Amino acid sequence: MIVSSTQSGVSQLDSAEIDSRLEKCPSLPSLSSINKALQGLLFAEQRYAAQISEIIRRDPSLTARLLRLVNSVYYGLSTPVNNIEEAVFYLGVRQIRQLTMVTPIIEDFQRLSCQCSFPWREFWQHCIGTAILTREVVNLVQSPPDDSDYIAGLVHDVGKIVMAWGFPDHFAEIHRRAAHATQALSDIETEILGIDHSQLGALYLQRHQLPDLMIRSARFHHHPEQADGDELIIASVQIADLLMRNARIGCSGNFIEVTREQCLAASGWRVLFPDQASAEQTIARASLDRCLERLPSVLEGLV
Ligand SMILES: [Fe+2]
Ligand SMILES: [Fe+2]
Repeated sequence: MIVSSTQSGVSQLDSAEIDSRLEKCPSLPSLSSINKALQGLLFAEQRYAAQISEIIRRDPSLTARLLRLVNSVYYGLSTPVNNIEEAVFYLGVRQIRQLTMVTPIIEDFQRLSCQCSFPWREFWQHCIGTAILTREVVNLVQSPPDDSDYIAGLVHDVGKIVMAWGFPDHFAEIHRRAAHATQALSDIETEILGIDHSQLGALYLQRHQLPDLMIRSARFHHHPEQADGDELIIASVQIADLLMRNARIGCSGNFIEVTREQCLAASGWRVLFPDQASAEQTIARASLDRCLERLPSVLEGLV
């Protein structure tokens, strides 16, 4: 059912229509440079699981598809695979090669559909940078046992890829508006499409039976205090996301400026440091600032 219509002609969708489009939503697209690098490696004579997983770690779509594949093929495993290198090891080169062969490329799609030009490369930098920083934030309070914190950071905004992919006209209209807006991106998304990227991303990941942490990261990364589990990692994702936006590294597609004060006031800090130990927090922030300084050069070489 069509709910209401905007000036541009796209109409808000109700949840039944959103669900049915999600069901038809094909595999999420990847960034061309990453797909090329991965294919180059997969067809090379010498290839190592570590190198292959290093490239997959730079792509939220490929990571989600890889984990979905490994956990459906190895359904009987006592604990789901939550580690990219382990997933590569289980699946083997042949299956990963097949995965990349059928992976659509986001830039091709954008050209074909004459979509608004969204800065996809910078968006990928936002995702990878948030993942790297999430790990740094988690490290302030505990040592991460596996890749799951990094993956949570990497996929936090996957709803934007889902939106571009499954709802291209709505996505184009949303980002035409967002480019000059003073309104929060989530509000624009809800107004134009009827759902925002955090809800849409969570629905998509749920439908593909991905681990709860990934679903929660997509759903609650703007409000970690509302998460129904994994609060510490989700709080770290929120802080990493805000710091990336404040430092203007990459582009999340959300053009509203994030001030330093907003970063400091993020609800995630109270989840991480509930006893308000301010000295600890000051040291923590200084170490994150050092990581932020290095990030642009790290990211430049990755996508
Ligand atoms: Fe977001
Ligand atoms: Fe983000």
